[in-house]
Amino acid sequence: MAIISSRPQPTNSGEPPKKARVSGAKPAGKNSSHRDLLQGAATIEEQQGEESILIKGNQGDQQQSQNPQEEKIRPQRLEDYIGQKDLKGVLQIAIAAAQGRNDPLDHLLLYGPPGLGKTTMAVILATEMGTNCQITSAPALERPRDIVGLLMKITAGDILFIDEIHRLSRMTEELLYPAMEDFRLDITIGKGQSAKIRSLPLPPFTLVGATTRVGALSSPLRDRFGLIQRLKFYDLAELQTIVQRTARILPVEVTPEGAEEIARRSRGTPRIANRLLKRVRDYAQVHQASETSTKITQEVAVEALELLEVDPLGLDWTDRSLLQIMIDNFKGGPVGLDSLAAATGEDVKTIEEVYEPYLLQIGYLQRTPRGRIVTDAARKHLSN
Ligand code: ADE
Repeated sequence: MAIISSRPQPTNSGEPPKKARVSGAKPAGKNSSHRDLLQGAATIEEQQGEESILIKGNQGDQQQSQNPQEEKIRPQRLEDYIGQKDLKGVLQIAIAAAQGRNDPLDHLLLYGPPGLGKTTMAVILATEMGTNCQITSAPALERPRDIVGLLMKITAGDILFIDEIHRLSRMTEELLYPAMEDFRLDITIGKGQSAKIRSLPLPPFTLVGATTRVGALSSPLRDRFGLIQRLKFYDLAELQTIVQRTARILPVEVTPEGAEEIARRSRGTPRIANRLLKRVRDYAQVHQASETSTKITQEVAVEALELLEVDPLGLDWTDRSLLQIMIDNFKGGPVGLDSLAAATGEDVKTIEEVYEPYLLQIGYLQRTPRGRIVTDAARKHLSN
């Protein structure tokens, strides 16, 4: 289990916080392609086999981050987090109230498409509360002893972040119920008739669960979250600001129009915006090798993104081929997810959780009881 530490943040010092160390980048799955890398949308396979990471308050300077640049880019405080205004408003109140009572934050469930900043928000919450954030994901908690090990390490007020929480095994989930409700760990010792349950007290902690599929959570688990919040796709202006902020940190010069072009092609998703920015920076650097400095203009952004096959709406090769196959093979639908997966060679869950949400959002796909339908807007876009 990878344990990476950094420091608890002073909550009210007024000083700029020391950056929480974030590491443990998702391992590339065997099915990941260059397109996945480009889009930054982790496939289901990529999300499997992750281990837990401890992002800790003030003792971690001796530990090296696996990806320091990612950490630098990640906003550290709520005030640095661009977008998700409603979510931030709710969390600001929850933080102030919990701090006023000297309580941990209520358990929080964050849901929404990948790449919108659920993990980032969990790390920010820990920073704001001055506590540690233990990051893990459901596939890494396959055996009951995995979650027991994590809970035993928790200290008062810590945040335990579980990504893809809808994928928890039943036994792990059942261990979480008393842990969440009464801060108690019920361990079964022995087997059969002689089995005994021993209850161990846990320090009060906050579980932050993240999921792309809130409907797949069991209701007993969902009901144990005091706060359930959705992350929405970002608008163009928010993404442009994120691109400009990341460009300052990298650093690379970007014009407002260059940042807007990258934002427009980022599918409403900061993770994609930041990845595209890096790819455009590479392109600009190589193409402007004879100049004194690299500058991302709109023209350069368009050239680079066209080379990468990211179209003006941010659709990539997979999106376009998904829509085209629906038109060619299924007369535009309705078509069921299983048939679509079989025809495209993509995993059902990857289509549902990674590709489909944005196509639905921009009105290129419609979901009906009989399956998915390609809209006229999508047909028009593909024929351009
Ligand atoms: N980088 C990625 N997501 C971000 C956000 N929401 N705000 C600021 N920087 C970000």
